[in-house]
Amino acid sequence: MQHFTIFGYARSKMSDEELRNIISMTLTCRIDQRANCSEKMDKFLKRCFYQSGQYNSEEGFHELDRKLTEKEAGKLPNRLFYLSIPPNIFVDVVRSASRTASLPSGSGWTRFIVEKPFGRDSESSGELTRSLKMYLEEEQIFRIDHYLGKELVENLSVLRFSNLVFQPLWSRDYIRNVQLIFSEDFGTEGRGGYFDNYGIIRDIMQNHLLQILALFAMETPVSLAAEDIRNEKVKVLRSMRKLKLEDVVVGQYKGHTRGGKSFPAYVDDPTVPNDSVTPTFAAAALFIDNARWDGVPFLMKAGKALHTRRAEIRVQFRRVPGNLYRGNVGTDLDMATNELVLRVQPDEAIYLKINNKVPGLGMRLDSSNLNLFYSERYQREIPDAYERLLLDAMEGERRLFIRSDELDAAWAIFTPVLRELEEKRVAPELYPYGSRGPVGAHYLAANYNVRWGDISSDGSF
Ligand code: BG6
Repeated sequence: MQHFTIFGYARSKMSDEELRNIISMTLTCRIDQRANCSEKMDKFLKRCFYQSGQYNSEEGFHELDRKLTEKEAGKLPNRLFYLSIPPNIFVDVVRSASRTASLPSGSGWTRFIVEKPFGRDSESSGELTRSLKMYLEEEQIFRIDHYLGKELVENLSVLRFSNLVFQPLWSRDYIRNVQLIFSEDFGTEGRGGYFDNYGIIRDIMQNHLLQILALFAMETPVSLAAEDIRNEKVKVLRSMRKLKLEDVVVGQYKGHTRGGKSFPAYVDDPTVPNDSVTPTFAAAALFIDNARWDGVPFLMKAGKALHTRRAEIRVQFRRVPGNLYRGNVGTDLDMATNELVLRVQPDEAIYLKINNKVPGLGMRLDSSNLNLFYSERYQREIPDAYERLLLDAMEGERRLFIRSDELDAAWAIFTPVLRELEEKRVAPELYPYGSRGPVGAHYLAANYNVRWGDISSDGSF
């Protein structure tokens, strides 16, 4: 892109130079590592400016519009607003920005990227959509779910639709269960105020994990065009059963001391009420009532302050009927099934667990992995999810953004249980900071004859 200008807009007072200093602290030439990096960074920084203003007053946006127009002089402009702001000022900003700083029709496009949370439940989300649509057309709205911009999530469709070996396996006939696992090894440090109003189900499951599930389970789209893909995703979401309370386990981390170091409880955060029952961990069993997935449990698990940082998709296949080697694989035949793992982060990888003969004269079987480790196979840097999504929004590529009917369908699955959890003030099971989370998740999986694939080989939870 030859011509662009970036404006930061917020309430605090700041000069252009101060903003540039902040940006330069994290700016790199990570993806494009050719020579003269510092020269490129200087050029970039010179195009960054700052405008301070209120969110609900049109004055600040008028001033922004004036400055943008000045920079755009003589060229056909497009404008992209990226709103990374608290949900309570969403509509104010869209109103002011669209009225005073949008381009007139007949000129270039004006688009808005909005960040979750898109409401707290079906009602508030519907309300937000209606309010946004008073000022914007649906095609101007880019609802970001940054998990859709992750390399392995993008690759999911490639894996499914361009490898014949997986196509016939992708259904209830061969897949026993699917697990979508997200864990972080840090708590809500510094974000307690936001988090306490949302909790892990809204923060991670209803969006990031559900979006992955939809891509995983959708039928083959007519083409790779955004609307074709989103049409298939929305069908999967609409075929899903509403989540029930008995299919959910909630947890919250408590303080813990390890190796002389102490880690805080969730409720130690001064912005979190002492008696908060907001879950920082949840596990859930979801079902898609359609021909392809009838009866297959899709298990989700998401938590903060756990023992590791990881996001992965695990596909456990059924066991081989009449397995000739059943005498060699131990007593639990379900333990010896194939498992396909897509590790979204860290250390992107795809691996398939297969049974293999341990070399030698005897007949001993072993579970081994066919591995595709990205760092070994590809030397290139993997772009950050936001890098890909911002570029897509500029290019008008909507494939990885959430359409409003998808959002409605996603909320419909989770809203009843979220309400029930809140109304009954269901007490979360406490788990120590840095642990593997509540044991309840283990029982939930066991109800459906599932074993979490990420438990350690000695079976400890
Ligand atoms: C955000 C959540 O959407 O995703 C955070 O609000 C979470 O709570 C983050 O930490 C995780 O993103 P990533 O890309 O670091 O895995």
